[in-house]
Amino acid sequence: MNAIELLKKDHETVKDLLSKLEDTTERAVQTRKKLLLKIEQELKIHTELEEQIFYPAFRRAGSKDESVLAVEAKEEHRAVEALVLPDIKQTPPSTVEFAGRVKVLKELLEHHIEEEERDMFPQARKLLSRQQLEQLGESMEVLRKSLKSDAHAKAA
Ligand SMILES: [Fe+2]
Ligand SMILES: [Fe+2]
Repeated sequence: MNAIELLKKDHETVKDLLSKLEDTTERAVQTRKKLLLKIEQELKIHTELEEQIFYPAFRRAGSKDESVLAVEAKEEHRAVEALVLPDIKQTPPSTVEFAGRVKVLKELLEHHIEEEERDMFPQARKLLSRQQLEQLGESMEVLRKSLKSDAHAKAA
C-alpha cells in the first residue's frame, strides 16, 4: 500500500476511536478504559511508523523546510505520549476531568493529523515517486507486524 494512504487510514481509525471515547459518559467506565487502551496502542504503532520510516524518508527527500515539519510533528507526538496520555491514564474514567482531558487529546491529535495531511503529505507526494511511496508503505507494513507481535509477546 502507498505510504500516504496507509497513514491516512490510521488517522481515520484514531479519529473514529477518539469520537467514540468522547461520546461516552462517566458511567461507561469499562468502555472508556477499553477505548483509551486501544487509542494508546494505535498511536504507539502509528508514531513508530512515522518516526522510523516516513519522517526520515521525507527529510532525506527534502531540505530544511521538510526537516522543520518533521521535527515539529515529532514534538507533537512526544507531547501526547509523554504528557497528555499519561495524565489521562491516571484520571479515573468516572470523572468529568477524564472527559476534559480526552477533549484536549482529541483536539491536539486532530490538529496534528490536519497538519500532516495538509502540509506534509502533499509535499511528500511532490518529493517522492509513486514507487518510493509504495516501498515505504511496504516497509511500514512490515514494521507494524513486528511491533504487533512484540506487543503480543509482552502481553503473554
Ligand atoms: Fe504524526
Ligand atoms: Fe500521522
